[in-house]
Amino acid sequence: MFDTLKVDLRRNLQDYAPCGTLKRLALCLTLNSTQALMLIRFQFWCARHHFPTLFAAKLLFWFFKIEISKYAHIGPGLRLPHPMGLIIAPNVIIGPDCDIYADVRLVLAHGAKEGPQIGRHVFLGDGAKVVGHVSVGDHAIIGVSSVVTRDVPAHATAVGIPAKVITEHNDREADTR
Ligand SMILES: CC(C)(COP(=O)(O)OP(=O)(O)OC[C@H]1O[C@@H](n2cnc3c(N)ncnc32)[C@H](O)[C@@H]1OP(=O)(O)O)[C@@H](O)C(=O)NCCC(=O)NCCS
Repeated sequence: MFDTLKVDLRRNLQDYAPCGTLKRLALCLTLNSTQALMLIRFQFWCARHHFPTLFAAKLLFWFFKIEISKYAHIGPGLRLPHPMGLIIAPNVIIGPDCDIYADVRLVLAHGAKEGPQIGRHVFLGDGAKVVGHVSVGDHAIIGVSSVVTRDVPAHATAVGIPAKVITEHNDREADTR
């Protein structure tokens, strides 16, 4: 939990000027993004160790209106600039270093068991939805309020309802760490 959280926190604080340990600690404890991430990682930690996840899940819901299934998989380096209104269904897989904005929904199709598979370093803009067992390739960008119902290739930018690829090779560079 702590290794993953450390990577998450580092990525979420990267927009802030380099600062000392005390300021970093203060930011970690006060920013919405870092608070939500601590609860998310705590929920997964509880699930992995067979402890009840209800407490973390309720706090996430009360404070952030976030519902994330304990059966989802989220890679390290998750960045949540506006952690509000996220819904992530069971069996959704999110790769490392993704950016997820407010009101993003990653949900199953009716009756299906497999969820969306999001690659590494994907950008899911405000209100984006990904529905069903589709894959969003590495470094892809999904525009504001778009609804993805088909696979999106790596490095593509997709927008609209249903989302269509408008750029096959966007300029989203891989994070270095
Ligand atoms: C997807 C995105 C990156 C595309 O940016 P871009 O590559 O600069 O593309 P453009 O703005 O030039 O738009 C290209 C076309 O796609 C359309 N388009 C762009 N974003 C769209 C969206 N979210 N939904 C529908 N159409 C969209 C534009 O209207 C334009 O259409 P046109 O060619 O018919 O005029 C950007 O629109 C976006 O959604 N960014 C995410 C912003 C975000 O979530 N910010 C969070 C901050 S809180």
